[in-house]
Amino acid sequence: MGYPVTLIRGDGIGPEVTEATRFVIDATGVSIDWHVVDAGGDRIEQDGTPLPEAVRDSIRKTKIALKGPIATPIGNGFRSVNVELRKTFDLYASLRPIESIPGVRSYFHDIDLIIVRENTEDLYAGIEFERTTHEAAEAREFLSRLSGKAIREDSAIGVKPISVLGSRKIVEFAFKRAIALGRKKITAIHKANIMKFTDGLFLEIAREVAKEYPQIEFEDRIVDNMCMQLVQKPELYDVLVMPNLYGDILSDLCAGMIGGLGVAPGANIGQEYAVFEAIHGSAPDIAGQNKANPTAMILSGVMMLEHLGEMEAARQLRAAVLRVIAAKKSVTEDLGPIDEPASTTAMAEAIAQAML
Ligand code: NAI
Repeated sequence: MGYPVTLIRGDGIGPEVTEATRFVIDATGVSIDWHVVDAGGDRIEQDGTPLPEAVRDSIRKTKIALKGPIATPIGNGFRSVNVELRKTFDLYASLRPIESIPGVRSYFHDIDLIIVRENTEDLYAGIEFERTTHEAAEAREFLSRLSGKAIREDSAIGVKPISVLGSRKIVEFAFKRAIALGRKKITAIHKANIMKFTDGLFLEIAREVAKEYPQIEFEDRIVDNMCMQLVQKPELYDVLVMPNLYGDILSDLCAGMIGGLGVAPGANIGQEYAVFEAIHGSAPDIAGQNKANPTAMILSGVMMLEHLGEMEAARQLRAAVLRVIAAKKSVTEDLGPIDEPASTTAMAEAIAQAML
């Protein structure tokens, strides 16, 4: 029996990149007992929900999932499956290594950052009221009375909860990871000058936690300044820890610095469960064409192998990915310009070959 792992194929390019990942992980020789389940918009008709109980049950059993991207319609529609999964399994930490890959076109070189993003709170907590509802009217009236500030009648309302516990957990996670990975410095990112009680709390807790880890240098940056600094002097930074919204935005910014979403892996980690998934979405514009870059998903698979303690297989698989990309043959068209771009499947086959 291999390691039990839930495989959620996802929407759009999800089935293509997860299949490629499953193929190369199997090629490492590590035995995985894949439990394949489906979530997303297509399940609503049959199950009445985009996140069927079978998916939750499977993760409860396996504790680990490899997940393809799932589309979230903007505006009306169902709540994000991604957000639901993070809340259900308290996957409070999003871990995103941002490392330059030789051979991938980018304006930046030698980028080596780790983004640690809080995953359950902040404006992504899902506490929102639609403009025309009576809940929104009540929220406007209540908040206006509490704060002494007028809120326009035609406003929708969103809430930004930031807790002591949530902030402490994510900052401690960042410090522990930094130590485990031999990193030197942590930068906490916030907008505490404007959001004094929410981001201010996050910063206060980060400073408190930092005192418990004197071996790691600690500093903080305001998020807008951080964006500029990252593109001007990325070499000054090491591990970045931040609340949910800034983490989402900075992850894409930093993914762009290493050549785009096609190569940026990620993991959502909690006390008991872990879900590995690329940063990118379901890319509906290229879905079903067998041309999505599987690298980000495969590197998320590498993180999963590390999580399982299969360090040698993880090292081999990562080395094979780098070899194939450096050779500039058998790579997908987004890694171009390439005379003859490879399909998703062909790139996965080349990676499996490169491990032999
Ligand atoms: P996206 O990441 O799907 O696509 C942005 C651009 O990057 C597109 O041009 C796409 O073709 C390209 N791209 C993304 N991944 C690629 C890959 N592996 N290879 C080659 N090109 C790639 O972002 P978008 O368009 O904003 O979102 C589409 C859907 O995905 C939305 O419904 C969104 O909610 C969902 N989404 C899901 C996520 C998840 O499941 N964790 C994360 C982000 C978005």
